[in-house]
Amino acid sequence: MQLWSELRELEDGIDYGTPPRQGSPVTLEVDGQSITVPSGSSVMLAAAKARRNIPKLCATDTLEAWGSCRLCLVEIEGRSGFPASCTTIVSEGMVVKTQSEKLQQLRKGVLELYLSDFPAEDVEGGWSEFHDMLAQCGVKSHPYEPAETHLESAVDASNPYFLFDPAKCIVCNRCVRACEEIQGTFALTIQGRGFDSKVAAGQDQTFFQSDCVSCGACVQTCPSQALVEKSLFEGEYSRG
Ligand code: SF4
Ligand code: FES
Repeated sequence: MQLWSELRELEDGIDYGTPPRQGSPVTLEVDGQSITVPSGSSVMLAAAKARRNIPKLCATDTLEAWGSCRLCLVEIEGRSGFPASCTTIVSEGMVVKTQSEKLQQLRKGVLELYLSDFPAEDVEGGWSEFHDMLAQCGVKSHPYEPAETHLESAVDASNPYFLFDPAKCIVCNRCVRACEEIQGTFALTIQGRGFDSKVAAGQDQTFFQSDCVSCGACVQTCPSQALVEKSLFEGEYSRG
């Protein structure tokens, strides 16, 4: 089984979380380590350059930051709360902490919520970025009895090359941004709000009926196996 980072063919196996910037040098401290990055860079990118691995789901270095999953929280000296490192821009002299008991607890809580609405049969042995994050944060199960789930949602297998399993979608918006920012096609949107929010192709059509040109950018960026190549499965798709 290939690892997610191999599937994405990441340089040095590292996803810097947000795209590189070209600004003048800014020096900050990440977990006691001095690191210099171009101004306009995110704290997440600076941490990745310092080889500090901040967990993330909605961020990836091929797309502009979105800041929706709340997994990448950090502590910054002199700032209240726990800012998202993917949407926080570095500043000179900033002091960042990427690991603490409180951060660990917050990240675990976020992942447990996602896990409460994820197919149980696909947790063990999964190979997506989501599974990497579960492992990284030490989450194996969730303590909730979910009131509602998306586990009965129908799979869209209309596209000849890939399928979309909404039960595994964590609504991170990466596919929508990839469609816009990488392909420039605008075939995907997020419809609805809160629990009802979902990825929609075209005017809530199937992927095949929509303007999707099957470029695969959405599949490549999906962190949770919700969008996945059909060739990875033998015969009929089934979870687990
Ligand atoms: S299909 Fe994948 S990339 Fe798109 S919103 Fe869902 S989890 Fe994110
Ligand atoms: S990775 Fe920063 S909020 Fe999702």
